Amino acid sequence: MSNILPFSRPTIDEATIAAVADVLRSGWITSGPKAQEFERILSEYFGGRPVRTFNSGTCTMEIALRIAGIGAGDEVITTPISWVATANVIIEVGATPVFADIDPVTRNIDLDKLEAAITPRTKAIIPVYLAGKPVDMDRLYAIAAKHKLRVVEDAAQAIGSSWQGKPIGSFGDFVSFSFQANKNITTCEGGCLVLNNEAEAKLAEKYRLQGVTRSGVDGIDVDVLGGKYNMTDVAAAIGLGQFAQLDAITAQRRKLARHYSKRSARISRRRLAHNCRRKIMKAPTGTCSRSCCRSASPVPSS
Ligand SMILES: Cc1ncc(COP(=O)(O)O)c(C=O)c1O
Repeated sequence: MSNILPFSRPTIDEATIAAVADVLRSGWITSGPKAQEFERILSEYFGGRPVRTFNSGTCTMEIALRIAGIGAGDEVITTPISWVATANVIIEVGATPVFADIDPVTRNIDLDKLEAAITPRTKAIIPVYLAGKPVDMDRLYAIAAKHKLRVVEDAAQAIGSSWQGKPIGSFGDFVSFSFQANKNITTCEGGCLVLNNEAEAKLAEKYRLQGVTRSGVDGIDVDVLGGKYNMTDVAAAIGLGQFAQLDAITAQRRKLARHYSKRSARISRRRLAHNCRRKIMKAPTGTCSRSCCRSASPVPSS
């Protein structure tokens, strides 16, 4: 048996595997009825807000920025502690990422530093909810309203989280979720975007599929530069099976988080921080002389 602790293991049940087999046998394997059903179920969960599914939780943020009209000359404030996708999408639309540092306790963006970073060029904010923990949502949206900024919530890790009893995604501006393999629920790769109204949802559909506005026997009309970001029915069938387990998966993740927090509280903060840095920097073993590393990688005495 391997003694490596995996970062995450998907929990795909037999019913989901059977549902995928049904889609594969159905003759319709790309975006179709399952993707639409998944969008309907997600929209219900998010209080009836429009939801569109995509093939990642990266393109969802890029498309939200495009719908908001963010581009060259604009600044978007975000956090330096995230997966690189969060900053990449800002550059992808031609805008400039501005990093506001984190709160050392939550590791999410510090809202005082965020407000201090606002300039006349700031057009949007992308907060990130690390490990599913939201920022102070009341304060975030008060800042956005005061400075007339759009918000693209990077809730990649936050389906199942809530703020004052309301699910993340059921309120706010754009809210982006990822269903990549290690996320709370998965479609192998995928994501969804919660939008504000049907006009935005229609535009999201165009960006999702080559900008096509009409497709008929007499040809097609294209009026925006779209990409190829649609979710397949195979992925949506997995998503539907996973969504049915959301409460159970969330409860299990909370249990594990409590377990790790309790166990890691016994390790001194200094040792944890140093070990982390050593692993992130990929320092060769045996090159560190600090006492906290000696047991793991002894340094030959000179
Ligand atoms: C905070 C955060 N933002 C964005 C993403 C990107 O999601 P995806 O891999 O579905 O494109 C991830 C995925 O790891 C993430 O953790």
